[in-house]
Amino acid sequence: MVCGGGYFPSMSATAFALSSLEAIVSRFAGRRLMVLGDLMLDHYLWGRCERISPEAPVPVVDIERESSSLGGAGNVAANLAALGAEPVLVGVMGDDPRAQQLLDAFAERGVNTRTLVRDRTRPTTIKTRIIAQHQQVVRADRESRAELTGDALQDTLDVIAREMARCEALIISDYGKGVVTRETLEQAIRLAKAQGIPIAVDPKESHTDAYHGVSIVTPNQHEAGWVMGQRVTDEASLLNVGWGLQKRLDCECALVTRGPDGMSLFEKMGRYTHLPTVAREVFDVTGAGDTVVSVVALALAAGADYPEACYLANHAAGVVIREVGTATCSPAQLKESLAGALA
Ligand SMILES: Nc1ncnc2c1ncn2[C@@H]1O[C@H](COP(=O)(O)OP(=O)(O)OP(=O)(O)O)[C@@H](O)[C@H]1O
Ligand SMILES: [Mg+2]
Repeated sequence: MVCGGGYFPSMSATAFALSSLEAIVSRFAGRRLMVLGDLMLDHYLWGRCERISPEAPVPVVDIERESSSLGGAGNVAANLAALGAEPVLVGVMGDDPRAQQLLDAFAERGVNTRTLVRDRTRPTTIKTRIIAQHQQVVRADRESRAELTGDALQDTLDVIAREMARCEALIISDYGKGVVTRETLEQAIRLAKAQGIPIAVDPKESHTDAYHGVSIVTPNQHEAGWVMGQRVTDEASLLNVGWGLQKRLDCECALVTRGPDGMSLFEKMGRYTHLPTVAREVFDVTGAGDTVVSVVALALAAGADYPEACYLANHAAGVVIREVGTATCSPAQLKESLAGALA
C-alpha cells in the first residue's frame, strides 16, 4: 500500500507490510510504559426534561442513568491496557469522595492505580455533563489548574524516579491541569533519556521547549500551529509548522494530527509521510488523540519505526472513533483494521 496520496500527491510514498505490522501488534502484550499527566473523569447524567423549574428559569432534568469515561492521561492508560500493555500511571487525584469514582473507572478498565498520588490540596478533576433528550444542558467542572507543589510534587517526583527503570517508554499527556510542570518534566525526560527509551509527548501549548530531543510529539494541527505562530490552513502552512516544530525541538519526529484529514509525520532525517484517515464511520472523535499517542509509544517500544508506529496509531484512531464515549481498541480490532486495508 502506498501512502502520501489523496490530499498531497507530491509527498513521499511509504510502503507498509501487513506481516510486520501484525508482528509489532503481537509484541504489545506486557510492555510497561510510564504515562505522566493529568487525570480526568468525564461524568454524564442522562435524562429527560419536560418542565421549567418554578425556582428559576432553568430546565428540570429527571435523571434516568449515569455513566463515566476517562479523559486525559487516564484515557491513555486505558488505551494501553486494552492493547495488552501495562501502563504505569503517574498522576494526581484529590482526597475527596470523587477520587473513588476515578479509581472505580480505572479498575473497570484494568488500569493499575498503585502509582497514583493523592493531593489533599486539590479536587479530583471531574467534568459532569447533564444531558436531556441527547442535548447537553450544562457542564459542571471540578478541577484545579494550579501546578503541583509541596508534598504532591515531591511524591510525584519520587514515583517517577522509582518506577522509570522498569518502563520501556515514557508518554507525557499534558491537559494543562498542573501535573506536567517544569520539575516533573525535567525528572521524567532526564531519566527516560538516560535509559534510552522512546519518549512520546501529547503536548498542550506550554512547556514546548522542555521537549527538546524527545522521540516524537503528537500535537493536533491547532496546537502545533499555535506553538509555531502560524495557523495550519493549507499544505504550505502545514509543512512550515510541521518542519518548524521538528527543527525547533530537534526531536526525532513531529506527528501533526489533523482530525478528518489524517496525520502528517515529519522525521528528522527529512522524510515526510502523510497518512489519510482510515475511518469510514465517525461517531465520536473524543479521545482520538489519546489513542494516537498511546499506540505510537507502544509500537515504538515494540520495535516499530516511526512511520509504522504512526500507521498503527492511525488505524487505532479509526477504530475508537467508531464508538461513542472515549473508547479503546483491542489488538484483535487493530489487526482486523490492518487486514482490511492491506490484505
Ligand atoms: N472526524 C474524523 N474523521 C476521521 N478521522 C478522524 C476524525 N477525527 C480524528 N480522526 C483520526 O484521529 C486522529 C487524531 O485526531 P485529532 O487530530 O482530532 O486529535 P486531537 O485533536 O488531539 O483529539 P483529542 O484531543 O480530542 O483526543 C486523526 O489523526 C485521525 O486519524
Ligand atoms: Mg489532543
